Amino acid sequence: MSADKSTSWSYAEGLPVEDEVLRRARERSHELGLFPVSAGVSAALTVLAASSKAQTAVEVGTGAGVSGVALLRGMGPRAVLTTIDPDVEHLKAAREAFAEVGFPANRTRTISGRGQDVLPRLTDGAYDLVFIDADKPSFPDYVSQAVRLLKAGGLLVVNDALDKDRVSDPAIREASTVVLRRVGKMIRDNDSLVSAMLPTGDGLLLAVKR
Ligand SMILES: C[S@@+](CC[C@H](N)C(=O)[O-])C[C@H]1O[C@@H](n2cnc3c(N)ncnc32)[C@H](O)[C@@H]1O
Repeated sequence: MSADKSTSWSYAEGLPVEDEVLRRARERSHELGLFPVSAGVSAALTVLAASSKAQTAVEVGTGAGVSGVALLRGMGPRAVLTTIDPDVEHLKAAREAFAEVGFPANRTRTISGRGQDVLPRLTDGAYDLVFIDADKPSFPDYVSQAVRLLKAGGLLVVNDALDKDRVSDPAIREASTVVLRRVGKMIRDNDSLVSAMLPTGDGLLLAVKR
């Protein structure tokens, strides 16, 4: 990345002004040892959820709720977010964030479990948006499940898709990097998807189901 590109990236990440709710959710994330989505990704999630008019969304990796708040803020007033995480402490922290925003409890369905166990139980073609932010080794399976879960026109969003800038360097063979390279190609080569990689945060891979 040129010096200018890196400055522009930092500028884009620093531009969103986050409110008290998101700041507290970030604090809880750090207390729990979690890495929430960046400010740039959080802002992008709100825009993507709003522009896709998502009424139903699934998130894998609730954490302490930073991305969940961002998604719900973009979704319509009666839209529902189903969010999955095996850690009950993380889910509790996320529920605090959702309550602080004032979202009615029936707008979030928090499911305690692992993505690989829960996603197969969700209904085919019932979701407008799927956001993946947990458990990198399972990303290829989550992408396959997401394609099944999305309605036509639905949006898939994969976080950390550039794996700390390692994906672009073919010499790096870290397990997570190899998986994310595979996911990028898998999505690009799937004729039922149109996709784009944004350099926002640590890479945000977007795909719409035709
Ligand atoms: C990076 S954090 C998510 C951050 C969150 N999206 C945010 O921006 O606030 C990853 C989360 O994934 C959860 N997790 C780990 N393994 C998982 C799995 N197999 N399925 C679903 N969630 C998992 C962890 O407990 C953790 O809360």
